[in-house]
Amino acid sequence: MSSVKVVDKTFRLYIPHQDIEKAIQKVADRINIDMKGKNPVFVVVLSGAFMFAAELFKKVNIDCEICFVKLSSYESTHSTGDVKQVIGIDRSVENRNVVIVEDIIDTGQTVRYALDYLRRLGAADIKVSTLFFKPKAFQYDYPIDYVAMNIENEFIVGYGLDYNQQGRNLPDVYILDE
Ligand code: IMP
Ligand code: MG
Repeated sequence: MSSVKVVDKTFRLYIPHQDIEKAIQKVADRINIDMKGKNPVFVVVLSGAFMFAAELFKKVNIDCEICFVKLSSYESTHSTGDVKQVIGIDRSVENRNVVIVEDIIDTGQTVRYALDYLRRLGAADIKVSTLFFKPKAFQYDYPIDYVAMNIENEFIVGYGLDYNQQGRNLPDVYILDE
């Protein structure tokens, strides 16, 4: 499909899933080297990161765990500037190596919030992985350790990412067509 309608907006094809999966493989290859013997806990930021997490986790071949937090800051096509924690973590991450798994880093405030939260819980070392990164929107200076793909400062949908909760099931990624 070269374009799709999601709710009331039209999006055009931006990144086919084959390219996304190749980029995820590269992230997994690096994590497999960097995290070997460290038994990391992958902390997946729901909802958007579920598809990235599933693909990444299949490609990670070291001892590791996975758990989920739910954070929310986006309404419609813009950030509200206020992060809400909807579901907390279900285990201790004290003295553990943690890898945050995020769908997209835009302003960076959601991951800033997750970093503070995991530090307060006593994580020993925290790395950040993201499927997409918008360098032109990023407003912080913490390191982002694993970026699968840099993208333009535009709104995208698909591969887990939503527009008004719709479009997460699209296998490819689409960009807002205006
Ligand atoms: P940040 O806190 O501004 O970095 O925004 C991150 C969160 O906003 C992500 O976890 C996404 O859920 C959502 N988000 C940011 N940009 C997009 C986009 O282009 N499409 C869909 N969701 C987005
Ligand atoms: Mg989201």
